[in-house]
Amino acid sequence: MRRALGVLALLALLSPGLACPSLCSCSAKRNGRLLAECAYRELREVPRGLSPNVTILTLSANRLSRLGRASLAEVPELQSLWLGYNHISAVEPGTFSRLPQLKNLDLSHNRLVDFPWQDLRGLGALQILKLSNNRLSSLPAGALSGLRELRSLWLNDNELTTLARGTFEALPALAQLQLFRNPFNCSCKLFWLKEWAEATSAVISGSGSTLCAAPPRLRGRPVRDIPGELCVAPTAQLTYLSGSRGDGESREGLTLSLHCSVAGSPPPEIHWQIRTAARRLDIHGPTVARDGGVKAGGRRFLAFKNGTVAIPDFGKEDEGTYTCLAINEVGTRDVSVNVALSGSGNPAEELPRDDPQAGQPGGKSCSKGDELDPSGMGEKLVIVYRLPKEVRSAAAAAAREFRPGIWPLVLLMLLLW
Ligand SMILES: *[C@@H]1O[C@H](CO)[C@@H](O)[C@H](O)[C@H]1NC(C)=O
Ligand SMILES: *[C@@H]1O[C@H](CO)[C@@H](O)[C@H](O)[C@H]1NC(C)=O
Ligand SMILES: *[C@@H]1O[C@H](CO)[C@@H](O)[C@H](O)[C@H]1NC(C)=O
Repeated sequence: MRRALGVLALLALLSPGLACPSLCSCSAKRNGRLLAECAYRELREVPRGLSPNVTILTLSANRLSRLGRASLAEVPELQSLWLGYNHISAVEPGTFSRLPQLKNLDLSHNRLVDFPWQDLRGLGALQILKLSNNRLSSLPAGALSGLRELRSLWLNDNELTTLARGTFEALPALAQLQLFRNPFNCSCKLFWLKEWAEATSAVISGSGSTLCAAPPRLRGRPVRDIPGELCVAPTAQLTYLSGSRGDGESREGLTLSLHCSVAGSPPPEIHWQIRTAARRLDIHGPTVARDGGVKAGGRRFLAFKNGTVAIPDFGKEDEGTYTCLAINEVGTRDVSVNVALSGSGNPAEELPRDDPQAGQPGGKSCSKGDELDPSGMGEKLVIVYRLPKEVRSAAAAAAREFRPGIWPLVLLMLLLW
């Protein structure tokens, strides 16, 4: 009899499908799923000896304090993993990434200050993610994108102060979200959340108790009450100004000035992106100080605090796309203009013919001060400078040799869509 039992025990050990750690109880469910029930066992580690067929693993209410990469390697078929009410403060990156079938992950009521967000990229089947009652203070932008099946997300009772715009946007199946009891900073950075919450079809549980902890004037008020008039997305308009500097005999040539006038609340910052054949330049903030001093490297393109960028001696090599970006906590707006120099008597001849976006020549003409982009919608425009015949050959030789004074104003502007 003893021998027979011994043989049975040996068989059980040799058959991985039946293996079960001594502290757990394992049972087969219908449709071939295997449940390993290891909750309330004072476990300090994920037990060894789990069957690779286990699809449901309950480890709730134990004493696990950290999860290493290899801790779930025995159970690659897992669909549900219940780890709530432990003492987990750290999860090594990679711990969850090789569980492609995982549908339910519960890590609520632990001590997580961080989570291996990159592991979520491998979890396309995830439907329920519970990270509530932890100490998470940030959720990286894009961390949740790709969770196309995610239905329920619990992030309540953490230390989140803000969330990046679009955090919940790539979640087409999202039906329920919990965010309450986080110390949200209701600056305009978080204003998108109010707008998203108004538009989404997902249920935001306890949205009345999803409160602001800062700034002081909004403390204790629901996030959905952030006043809209304080948070206005930027608008931007580009206007063109040009003229030659100095007297007719100076060699300074044409100065192209583009002025970006912006509005919004808080007042937007202005950045410029300049893309020419030879360079890509990003200008963040003014390069010309109030006293007129120019920052190192800012000599070619002078960016003023008032939103004007000036390019003295504008030449062939400066042709390209000039983009003004207006940025505040609520959002970003960009508006671009393509600037080209024409060496022809007929500016339209010089337009790129093979550009499928190019409109027909002969569009509106504009003069100094005209608004390039009245709607601020960011359409592309082309300014073509018309070169008088007498300086054309010099221009071809060297753009910097242009004689000033006789430079005409911008004559033609074409709308391109
Ligand atoms: C474990 O899974 C394998 C492959 O799907 C299967 O052949 C085996 O019978 C399963 N064992 C149990 C106990 O379900
Ligand atoms: C809230 O956010 C704003 C800007 O987004 C920041 O200036 C301010 O210091 C933050 N307040 C707290 C209490 O973190
Ligand atoms: C912006 O400031 C610069 C330098 O003071 C000035 O040349 C330019 O005309 C100003 N632009 C506008 C639109 O006022």
